[in-house]
Amino acid sequence: MAILDKHAVLEKNATLLLVASLLVVSVGGIVEIAPLFYLENTIEDVEGVRPYSPLELEGRNIYVREGCYVCHSQMIRPMRDEVERYGHYSLAAESKYDHPFQWGSKRTGPDLARVGGRYSDEWHVDHMVNPQAVVPESVMPKYAFLLDRPIDGEYIADVMETNRFVGVPYSDEDIEMAVADFMSQADPFGDVYENADPDAVVERYPGAQVRNFDGQPEVTEMDALIAYMQMLGTLVDFSEFEQTPDDWIR
Ligand code: HEC
Repeated sequence: MAILDKHAVLEKNATLLLVASLLVVSVGGIVEIAPLFYLENTIEDVEGVRPYSPLELEGRNIYVREGCYVCHSQMIRPMRDEVERYGHYSLAAESKYDHPFQWGSKRTGPDLARVGGRYSDEWHVDHMVNPQAVVPESVMPKYAFLLDRPIDGEYIADVMETNRFVGVPYSDEDIEMAVADFMSQADPFGDVYENADPDAVVERYPGAQVRNFDGQPEVTEMDALIAYMQMLGTLVDFSEFEQTPDDWIR
């Protein structure tokens, strides 16, 4: 049994065994993982998914800054209870422009991947100002200060350039028009921004919702955050996808 004798060398030498195990495991790892970085179809293209508009991107940055991900996930798993509660399970493409992604794993509050359109803007304002006024047993902190923080998109072009650097396909024109789009989306009637051109926002970012989100004339961090909340999960039209219990993992 010559081959077993050779194996005995490995079994009697812990370091050699460790090195050999690592080699074996890394071969498996490389074979499984490396192709994902080169295959064209690792993330399938899905109709409707587009980069964030400047205002939505700002809202997303506020979401990250405030640590909303500490209590909220943004990934609906393909399991029956999740799909029945939150809607169609999340597709990889839906977070392909997220840097960093917000999937999360902690759900002190509900998943937010499809919260867009579920509540009115007024509900969101009331809820962010004082969550317990809307849901008495809520443990969510108050974020009323967002209403008092005016924003003007000063740095949003830089944020978009940074996103472009990591692969989000913003065009030169998108970046050039960043501030105009930013202001026009939250101030379509030009209360504070004279050159509001809401149609241009929708043309550049199909499906973008254009309105005064927080009800105040000024454009504030609350506008940006609610613009982001209201677009989450709304880009893909799932009405044609009939789901059956066979699609769920049980
Ligand atoms: C300490 C944990 C915690 C943090 C941090 C937190 N939330 Fe919540 N959130 C909750 C809980 C719990 C609920 C469920 C009760 C309620 O509606 O208030 C909730 C509910 C929500 C809802 C309603 C979801 C639904 O489907 O009913 C939204 C929207 C929301 N949070 C947004 C945010 C945003 C945006 C932030 C960051 C600015 C944030 N939350 C930070 C705990 C948290």
